Amino acid sequence: MSDRTRVALIFGGQSSEHGISCLTAASVLKAIDRDRFDVVGVGISKTGRWTQVPLDVVAAYAIVDGVPPEVDEPVHDAVWMVGEHGCEVASRSGETLVDINAVDVAFALLHGPYGEDGTIQGMFEMMGIRYVGSGVTASAVGMDKHFMKVAFEAAGLPVGPYVAASAHRLTHDREAVLAEVEALEYPLFVKPARGGSSIGIVRVTEPGQLDAAIEEAQRFDPKIVIEQGFTGARELEVAVLGNPDAPDGCDASVLGEIRVNAKDGFYDYEAKYFDEDGAALDAPADVTPELAARIQELAKQAFHAVDAEGLVRADFFVADDDVWINEVNTMPGFTRISMYPTLWQASGLTYTDLVARLIELALQRPVGLR
Ligand SMILES: Nc1ncnc2c1ncn2[C@@H]1O[C@H](COP(=O)(O)OP(=O)(O)O)[C@@H](O)[C@H]1O
Ligand SMILES: [Mg+2]
Repeated sequence: MSDRTRVALIFGGQSSEHGISCLTAASVLKAIDRDRFDVVGVGISKTGRWTQVPLDVVAAYAIVDGVPPEVDEPVHDAVWMVGEHGCEVASRSGETLVDINAVDVAFALLHGPYGEDGTIQGMFEMMGIRYVGSGVTASAVGMDKHFMKVAFEAAGLPVGPYVAASAHRLTHDREAVLAEVEALEYPLFVKPARGGSSIGIVRVTEPGQLDAAIEEAQRFDPKIVIEQGFTGARELEVAVLGNPDAPDGCDASVLGEIRVNAKDGFYDYEAKYFDEDGAALDAPADVTPELAARIQELAKQAFHAVDAEGLVRADFFVADDDVWINEVNTMPGFTRISMYPTLWQASGLTYTDLVARLIELALQRPVGLR
């Protein structure tokens, strides 16, 4: 028996962040300590088919001419098995299974629905597979901008004014939703409840734009959230990492700041991934030690408010002395240059060590209810 740990990197997926996930896989593959970890690449195509992807293909994923990479539709579908040999992933070739690889731990580098939202975590739970990051509940709550706010409010965290609306309410009780929205001050941010990467989010500056914004957000999720916009607020973020030995159960990184160049301050999809001048990331952020300590404490509370495990990035809006929590991401952007790894790098933990730490945390914790 080797003492090497066999890690399945899972990437791609059915959400709009498919391409970003592929880039993350390439980034993690380059950083992961290959003296300690054996890696098997498992892609999920845009139609939801699973396939083992050779590591040289994963390593080569890149944005080419503005086009993000994607997992090709498989020739051989991947199959997960759990039995006397533990967990294995294989490829189906006609009636036979080939290329059978043992897996000790799964690391789903998936963002958005069908990955970050508790669905794949549920599959791992059912199969008794150890996996990196939050469990079913935390993943689902962290994905849903409505229930996330409910959890934050219950934990006493500062949440800005908002209205949540299901597809049913928007169809059958739209007037009531719009009446609630009248209590909010413009600009508003209309968001798909379960989205990410700013996709489908519309900044609305006057009531006449509201219907179109709701329609746009609903293209991505029938359920939406409408928030009062914070104008002139700074966007500050903290990386939280599980630590069963710490009194708080987790550690908080130094603070980071997103300085968005757009005049409206909206950190949109272009600014996140495609426009090099779209935004600057400061790590550490230029903040007083008092403000940093206060936000780090809120970030750790947010980690527990959603019952997270492993990692979250907690995002805040800050204006003068006021701090509001925007969201947590249970699978935050995780390429080498993304905020989460950058904040740990600035706190003294390298990307390679961070990947190892997350895998160790996954191996330490028991499967099943905990
Ligand atoms: N209430 C708000 N006030 C001001 N800006 C906002 C607000 N909500 C979102 N934004 C802007 O939109 C971006 C994306 O919103 P966010 O809720 O973080 O969605 P995502 O999950 O897609 O990252 C934020 O980083 C911020 O720039
Ligand atoms: Mg965000």
